[in-house]
Amino acid sequence: MFAARQTFNLFQKRAFSASASQASKVAVLGAGGGIGQPLSLLLKLNPRVSDLALYDIRGGPGVAADLSHINTNSTVTGYNPDAAGLNDCLKDAEIVLIPAGVPRKPGMTRDDLFNTNASIVRDLAKAAAKSAPNANILVISNPVNSTVPIVSEVYKAAGVYNPKRLFGVTTLDVVRASRFISQVQGTNPADEKVTVIGGHSGVTIVPLLSQSNHASIAGEARDALVNRIQFGGDEVVKAKDGAGSATLSMAMAGARFAESLLRAAQGEKGVVEPTFVESPLFKGQGIDFFASKVELGPNGAEKIHDIGPVNEYEQKLIDACLVDLKKNIQKGVDFVKANPGN
Ligand code: 2OP
Repeated sequence: MFAARQTFNLFQKRAFSASASQASKVAVLGAGGGIGQPLSLLLKLNPRVSDLALYDIRGGPGVAADLSHINTNSTVTGYNPDAAGLNDCLKDAEIVLIPAGVPRKPGMTRDDLFNTNASIVRDLAKAAAKSAPNANILVISNPVNSTVPIVSEVYKAAGVYNPKRLFGVTTLDVVRASRFISQVQGTNPADEKVTVIGGHSGVTIVPLLSQSNHASIAGEARDALVNRIQFGGDEVVKAKDGAGSATLSMAMAGARFAESLLRAAQGEKGVVEPTFVESPLFKGQGIDFFASKVELGPNGAEKIHDIGPVNEYEQKLIDACLVDLKKNIQKGVDFVKANPGN
């Protein structure tokens, strides 16, 4: 069977009936890259997507031509930066995924990517604010803890910010958590639900094992598991040895999140995904964005769930997360203020 039904249902029959009457244009900005290509492939396989628009600074039309031969119904169009390429790509999009930017090399943190990726995301957000102001924006480009606030500042400056439509994709942390816990416990990852909150980088990634099926994991086993979930991305960076970070698993996570949004937009109730959004949960402490379980709907983020009961160990993880997260968010906000771009 293709992947876990609970986590990734691109091929479910109900998708065909749900999507038959609905046109859903999805745009990928950075479609020629390591994440962009497999992400675009998965979206081409998704019957809920009617139009796939692929932009990159180079190679968008090539990826589009390749994918367009796949025998699913959606149209695929590629765009270059020339003429109005980016704006045409974005026009009428319901979902805009942004994986554009550079990946990590061994020894780098996601924050080390800030200087390069911040302006890339800012400029793409400007185009999206202009040409697709009502679309759901799904930010994959790292550091997500900072790039999501960058998009929000750009949208605020353009007068089109709707917090319900802006999401940092943290799905990979949940995907890794269920996989890693299943490896330790010898279970099926499809049956493992682990809530992961906070942000998408190192100690800001906070798995709540006490809310999983394995609340009794303790001591060194728990510490090792939590550490692996927090720093799982580093395993891939190290193994790729200079050739980048997670692309395939990240693409799967981004496609899963997009699929959840489409399901919710097309009327399915009770679609809940963890994601990094503007959140009331820690606003009192000056932290405007936080990842937690969010119920999705036709208007985007319909309901932000409380984090629920946590134990003393998890509270310490949350405390450490908040320190870093606050700085990461402020860095994104400050960047746009100091560098508003053209
Ligand atoms: C990761 O978690 C690329 O941020 C991505 O591996």
